[in-house]
Amino acid sequence: MLALARFGANPLTYLDGLREDEREIVPFSLGNVHCHLLKSPEHLRLVLESEDWPPLSRGRLMALDKWYGGGLILTEGAEHHRQRDELWKPVLADPSSAAIGVARAARRARSWREGEPVELFSELRSLCWSIDWEALTGEDLDEAPELLKAQEAGTAAMQWLLGPYGTARWGGPMPSSVRTRAARARLDAAIDAMTAERRARPRDDVLSRWVEREDDDQVVQATFKQWLGAGQLHALFTWTLHLLARDAEVEARWHAELDEVLGERAATTDDVQALTFTRKVVKESLRLYPPIWGFFRQVTGDYRLDGQSIPDGHVIAMSQWVTHRDPGLWA
Ligand code: HEM
Repeated sequence: MLALARFGANPLTYLDGLREDEREIVPFSLGNVHCHLLKSPEHLRLVLESEDWPPLSRGRLMALDKWYGGGLILTEGAEHHRQRDELWKPVLADPSSAAIGVARAARRARSWREGEPVELFSELRSLCWSIDWEALTGEDLDEAPELLKAQEAGTAAMQWLLGPYGTARWGGPMPSSVRTRAARARLDAAIDAMTAERRARPRDDVLSRWVEREDDDQVVQATFKQWLGAGQLHALFTWTLHLLARDAEVEARWHAELDEVLGERAATTDDVQALTFTRKVVKESLRLYPPIWGFFRQVTGDYRLDGQSIPDGHVIAMSQWVTHRDPGLWA
């Protein structure tokens, strides 16, 4: 219980302590949950590239079903692969988001005033959501503040849904539970209405592409919400700007590359290869401040990893925070 309290108070400090452990698979317990932290990239690859569903499962992540109602990240095995290959992959390659992103970011930047403080994380988050929303629907999320609020409520709920008693709390009488249930109902109604419109008359947007490929409206709804919820780019941008602001030399080099490759024009996806220094900046930011610092799988049967047995019911923990800052891997 002490470990659980220490982890809850400051998970990153707790993980720093586990990184010091000499072993590559570090056992630890949080309350009555037995965990095994994988530190080496080889072990991470073995678990992440495994098709062993079961005995690997999503475990507690399934609590997010209360908000999402199914979808790629809450399915396993064949159905997961179907959704990945038929719904996500074709749309991830869709170039419209990049063009929408450039236009919306430029517009938002013009509304910022020199010297005026900006709370970057929430500003960039609403910008990213509005870019996704326009790619998904062709519509402007800035004009639907009640839907932005609903999305914010769902995102806030992820924190407590994953914690102890999360699913019980979802159905309970607490004001945050009532608000989040209402937010889900509001967002779902809007998505379902747009889905019905596109079934009648397809448009040139991502939602229409899903409707064309998927008969089940519930899967379309969950995919839509996961598209909005999955992207962590706002956190990446926030940390990257923070790091650049602390290092004038790197910032100047970055600007020089942008000037050289782009000049006055906006970037397109074709420029990504040429922006070699920009890519290094982004990767180093992802290494130091990974927007998601940990995730897990639960074992539901006999599981052996690199000859070591991980018992039924135990949790396999993986942490970008730990592995990215391992001095044995990164000088
Ligand atoms: C810097 C940005 C991002 C970070 C740090 C990030 C992080 C992650 C992590 C750690 C996972 C693994 C979760 C797990 O297996 O338990 C994941 C999965 C996933 N991410 Fe991202 N993500 C980012 C951007 C995006 C974007 C832009 C999208 C698409 C809109 C996206 C869609 C997904 C999907 C669909 C999965 C599930 C894949 C699967 O289970 O097959 N992510 N992401």
